[in-house]
Amino acid sequence: MRIDILTLFPGMFRAVFAESMLKIAQDKELVELRMHNIRDYSHDKHKCVDDKPYGGGGGMVLKPEPLFRAVESVDKQDCMVAKKILLTPQGKTFDQQLAIDLAQESRLMFICGRYEGFDERIRLGIELLEVSIGDYVLTGGEIPAMVMTDAIVRLIPGVLGGKRSLQCESFMNKMLDYPQYTRPEVFRGMKVPEILRSGNHRSIEEWRNDKSEKKTEERRPDLLEK
Ligand code: 6GU
Repeated sequence: MRIDILTLFPGMFRAVFAESMLKIAQDKELVELRMHNIRDYSHDKHKCVDDKPYGGGGGMVLKPEPLFRAVESVDKQDCMVAKKILLTPQGKTFDQQLAIDLAQESRLMFICGRYEGFDERIRLGIELLEVSIGDYVLTGGEIPAMVMTDAIVRLIPGVLGGKRSLQCESFMNKMLDYPQYTRPEVFRGMKVPEILRSGNHRSIEEWRNDKSEKKTEERRPDLLEK
C-alpha cells in the first residue's frame, strides 16, 4: 500500500512514522508513507496557501489552487488513482470497520486541513471521503491522519506478527479485551487468577469470554446492542 499525506506540517509525521509498527511496516516494504507540503504547490511568491473568507468572519480559509495542484500532481506519481480522504470534524466518524475497508485499498491520500476550513470547491471538485476521528475539535487534520494510518497499516497482512493478535482484539468481535497477566505470579500482593495457570484451555477461554462480556456491559453497553 502507498499512503500520501498532503499537509502544511510534514514534520509532525516524522517521529510517529519512524518508530515501532509503522517503521517495521515500511522496512518490510508493506507500506510506503510519503508526506507532501501543500505550500510547495503554491505559485505565488510568498507561498501563500490561505486567504480571508468571502462574506467576512474570522479566520482563514485554505485556498483551492495549491490543494488542487498538490492532489493532481501526487495522483500522477503512480498509475493507480488514490482514494482521497479529507480530514475534517464534519466527516463520517472513523471506526474499525472503516479501517478494515480502507486497508483493502492499494493507494490512499490523506488531505489535512488547518485554519477555519477549506474553500468549498475542494469538496465540489475532488472526489473525497470526509472523515473525522471523533466528536472533539483539533487544530488540524495531521493527528487524525496519523491515527488513521496507524489503524489501517496494522491491518495489512504481514505487518503484525500473528493473525491471532488481530482476531482476538477489541472491536473485531465487538467486545472489549479480557484482562491479561504476565510474570511475576504475585506482584505487590496481587495474584494472577488461578485459572490462567491451570492449563485448561477451555476453562481459560470461558473465563476470558465472561470477563470480556462483563467489561463490555459495564463500559460499552452500546457495543453489545449493535
Ligand atoms: Cl479530522 N480534524 C479536526 N480539525 N478536528 C477533528 C477531527 C479532524 N476529527 C476530530 N476532531
